[in-house]
Amino acid sequence: MNFKFWSQKATSGDKRDKVAPDFSYLPHDTYYFDSACQTFRPQSVIEAESAYYREYNACGGRVKYPWGEIVDEKVEAARTTILRFLGVSTKQYSVAFTLNATYGINLVLQQIPATKYRTIITSDIEHNSVFLPTITYAKQHQLQRVVLERDHEGNLLYTKEQLAQAIVVVNVTSNIDGRSLNNLKQLADDIHEQNGLLLLDCCQTIAHHSELLRDVKYDALFASGHKMYAPSCGFIVITRALLQELEPTFLGGGTVGDVMENDYQLLMAPHELYSRLELGLQDYAAIIGLDAAIKWYEGFRYEQKNAQQYETMLSEQLYTGIQTMPYLKIINTQSSPVVTFYPERVDSHMLAMYLGKQNIMCRSGFFCCHYYLKNKMKYPPLLRISLGLHNTSEQIDFLLANLKYLLEVAK
Ligand SMILES: Cc1ncc(COP(=O)(O)O)c(C=O)c1O
Repeated sequence: MNFKFWSQKATSGDKRDKVAPDFSYLPHDTYYFDSACQTFRPQSVIEAESAYYREYNACGGRVKYPWGEIVDEKVEAARTTILRFLGVSTKQYSVAFTLNATYGINLVLQQIPATKYRTIITSDIEHNSVFLPTITYAKQHQLQRVVLERDHEGNLLYTKEQLAQAIVVVNVTSNIDGRSLNNLKQLADDIHEQNGLLLLDCCQTIAHHSELLRDVKYDALFASGHKMYAPSCGFIVITRALLQELEPTFLGGGTVGDVMENDYQLLMAPHELYSRLELGLQDYAAIIGLDAAIKWYEGFRYEQKNAQQYETMLSEQLYTGIQTMPYLKIINTQSSPVVTFYPERVDSHMLAMYLGKQNIMCRSGFFCCHYYLKNKMKYPPLLRISLGLHNTSEQIDFLLANLKYLLEVAK
């Protein structure tokens, strides 16, 4: 590959100033396209997080001095914001905060008593964070494990019989190409009719397609703060019924009402059941930042568009641009804030490295979907471009121009 003459930017221009002040701290020539991994944090989120450290740096759930009470209030407010944002009943569901979504999935799955279930089901396009815990759970409990296919629209392909007493763990939106679980409502009804459980990986859903979750009866969902403009953290939204069903094996400070020499009593009040998943001190600054991030997202307005409308506009621009690009194979079949492809004449990692030289940051590899991308589809390492609300159409033009240039000169 000869990049010798590739020294000038293919285009220039940056409308980021207009999207800011939310991201005004970013250096001017930042072309970040890896929001599917983690988004940037708007200024208001950074401020909410740092206010905790500066103004009331106390632990939650344990202390009676004023700073601790502020923390408790703010953490409760974050739980309420999440449930309100998702439109679910506070009587039926609880929120627990965790390290990240991966930790949350493992934490819940590991504590589900296997005796009630016959099968654990997942899909072929899952992130390793779902794929691997379902393997370990099946091995540990000698349960049958089934990997179902998803079609190009994202529908899970299943028969009702397969769902009998099954624990189903699937993503609602793929981190490969954004395809969504369009038959989610029907799936939830069918699973519950068959006495199964539905656990949803919503890492790529909350900041893009939260409407998919409306009126869906899931047993638990898992998400990452860092993929929705919040600090690094995870959260679990879980029914009180499932919380009661868990057999807690991860215990410690914050989880018990009383402790005897050889026994303990868990906190039992319905509004405290989440404590079974919040062992030890939490990242209070991140939780408070998460609350600020959801409010920021809800209030987002740019070019007379809300967050979803703005992102849809950028996604269409990106998808159209990639579709017409020479010498590459695109995985997406529709527009999405996440677009994945592989170049025909150059290694993806090398392409990502060269794009990086122009400050264009996008991902290369298998995006933690090794089973599907590497072993089932046998693709070479791929390139993924993922959008966030800090991006502008000028940045996409710049990316497309540079990508086109590199694909053309690659030999
Ligand atoms: C679809 C999906 N599931 C799970 C994860 C893991 O999320 P976390 O980093 O919060 O553990 C990711 C992260 O990229 C993801 O995209």
